[in-house]
Amino acid sequence: MKAYFNPRTLTFGLIPMVELGVNIDHVATVRQARRTVEPDPVAAAVLAELGGADSITVHLREDRRHIQDRDIRVLAETIRSKFNFELCCSPEIVQIACGVRPDQATLVPEKRQEITTEGGLDLRSANKELRNAIAALSDQGIRVSLFIDPDQEQVRLAKEFGVQAVELHTGQYAETRGQEQAEQLERLRRASELVLELGLKLHAGHGLTYQNVRPVARIPGMHELNIGHSIVSRSILVGFEKAVREMKYLLNTL
Ligand code: PXP
Repeated sequence: MKAYFNPRTLTFGLIPMVELGVNIDHVATVRQARRTVEPDPVAAAVLAELGGADSITVHLREDRRHIQDRDIRVLAETIRSKFNFELCCSPEIVQIACGVRPDQATLVPEKRQEITTEGGLDLRSANKELRNAIAALSDQGIRVSLFIDPDQEQVRLAKEFGVQAVELHTGQYAETRGQEQAEQLERLRRASELVLELGLKLHAGHGLTYQNVRPVARIPGMHELNIGHSIVSRSILVGFEKAVREMKYLLNTL
C-alpha cells in the first residue's frame, strides 16, 4: 500500500502497489537481427532494476528467436529483483527452467508461426505435458503462473491445476477501442474477481502500453503486470532506465 494525496478532491487515501515485470525479450530481438552480441539483455535487466522493475521476464522460445540459453544462465546470476521465466511446456525448456530455478515460471502456449504469444493456454484441453511441466517446476520450489484468457472457466480450471498465480491475457483489451474496450476491461475485472476469490495471485499482461495500462493497473487486487514491447520501444528513444521508471510511475499513481 502507498499513501496518496489527490489535489483535485483534497483527499488522502491508500493505493495498492502493483509490481512491474519488465519483459526484455525484444532487446534480444534487436541483437538477433544481426546475430551479434549487442544489445545485451543482461545490461537491460540491470538498467530495468535501476528504473524500479520488480521482476525481469524472459521467454526462452523453442525456436530461440530472441532469448538464448546463454542469456538465461547469465540472467539467473545477475537478476537481483525476481526472475520470471516464461516458457511453453516442452520438456526440453522445462528442464532448462528447472536447472536455473527462477523465482517464477509462467507457462504459455507457443506456436512457431506466431509473431508473439497469441492467446492464453486452453486448460479445457490441457494435456499431460502441461501437468508434467507444473509438477517438475513445483518440485524445484518454483512458483508457477498460467497465462490464460480472462474467462471464468479458465480461471476455475487454473485453480484445479494447483498453481499459485494466473496471468490474464490483456491482448484483446489492448487491441480494441471505445465501447468494445470497455467491455474487455469489464471481462478482465470479472475474471480478476474470481482469481482473488479462489486465492490465486493476480497477474496480467500482453499489449499493455503507456496509454492503456492504467485501467488494468487499477483493477482491485492486481499484483503484477508484465510489459515488454512498449517499454523496449520507448527505451530506444529515452533510455531503458527512464522508460521503466515512467511505466512504474503510471502503475502506482492516480
Ligand atoms: N505476458 C506474456 C505471458 C507474454 O507472452 C508477453 C509477450 O511475450 C507479455 C506478457 C508481454 O507482452 P508485450 O510485449 O506485448 O508487453
